[in-house]
Amino acid sequence: MTIVVPKETAAGERRVALTPDGVKAMLPVARRIEVQRAAGHGSLIPDSAYAEAGAEVVDQPSDDGLVVRVQPPSGTEIGTLNPGSGLVCLLSPMGNPTIVQALAQGKISAFAMDLIPRISRAQSMDALSSMSTIAGYKAALLAAASLPRFFPMLMTAAGTLPPARVLVIGAGVAGLQAIATCKRLGAIVEAFDVRPAVKEQIESLGGKFVGLSLVSDEAEDAGGYAKEVTADTHAQEMDLIASRLPNVDVVITTALIPGKRAPVLITKEMLAHMRPGSVIVDLAAPNGGNCEATVPGETVFESGVTVIGRTDLLASMAADASRMYSRNIVAFLGVILGPEGLKLDLEDEIVRGTLVTHEGRIVHDVVRLAIEKGG
Ligand code: NAI
Repeated sequence: MTIVVPKETAAGERRVALTPDGVKAMLPVARRIEVQRAAGHGSLIPDSAYAEAGAEVVDQPSDDGLVVRVQPPSGTEIGTLNPGSGLVCLLSPMGNPTIVQALAQGKISAFAMDLIPRISRAQSMDALSSMSTIAGYKAALLAAASLPRFFPMLMTAAGTLPPARVLVIGAGVAGLQAIATCKRLGAIVEAFDVRPAVKEQIESLGGKFVGLSLVSDEAEDAGGYAKEVTADTHAQEMDLIASRLPNVDVVITTALIPGKRAPVLITKEMLAHMRPGSVIVDLAAPNGGNCEATVPGETVFESGVTVIGRTDLLASMAADASRMYSRNIVAFLGVILGPEGLKLDLEDEIVRGTLVTHEGRIVHDVVRLAIEKGG
């Protein structure tokens, strides 16, 4: 089977789905690997590196084979694919119902990298974790660069300056990386999450867990992701956050329930109680934001607080983001690709969990039900 790596066309996207190392890893399995000219440029990879790795650099990629991408293709791009072709990308199927329907109509076998189950066997394919690691790291750096104070405690001839205090809300992959990076920069870090499992992880990074009374085993689903909290827990959580905000200089928010709008955990009114010059980095901005003042893609100033809602953090670290995503793709292709082409073993929970459309139908039950409900 031919693997096709197109140049990404989504606005602002700089990542590429397969790096030259990924090409080398896949060549023993794939018959041929086509990389569209300039596909790697946003990640600082020249076409010559792909050619040296054994790929064919082409102006117009084939309309057949297995297309690996970062972002989903546009409707026009789907129209150019032959029925029976495969597609692997960060599909976000719940947020892209029209694209999913077009893929089904086009008889494309489409896999969503963002639906990889969080199980041990799939860790090396977990693209959301890879990307969130980058986002968490970058969030800490943005906070440090935007705060008009030092992060570490400084003892100087001009006196001693106290360290910055950081609150991280949501200690999943992005949150834990934000905690680790803020600690490395010398800040005092506290964090909160509704899942009890993360308390130990926060503490192992040197952070302090706050709000123990609010955590519950009910907050976690079988897949290890958070579920929506009850109205009562939400109200208590808002009280807890309101009580912590006046004591911190930086808040990094990452709270996410898969497939849902991000919960609003900081209202505009609460900002007035923060220290002047404080910074909020809202990683949930692409899903609407955890802070009411967040404007996705922008930095705004509200009640003396800088609220950063940047949505381009992955593009800003494109070289390493591509390296990590490419490794996730290679591990995933190891599951779905054999010498005869696509092998769709629906008994395998990784295949079953990620295959969204196949043979003209939306075969992923959760996605199909969500799309039917929405439309
Ligand atoms: P994750 O699912 O690993 O972590 C989210 C955490 O939020 C979980 O630990 C969950 O228990 C917690 N949570 C859910 N509801 C909560 C609540 N009400 N209160 C406190 N905690 C709550 O997700 P991950 O991978 O860490 O991603 C975090 C966020 O980062 C997501 O919103 C994702 O979209 C975003 N992200 C943003 C990027 C950007 O460029 N801005 C890039 C990549 C990811």
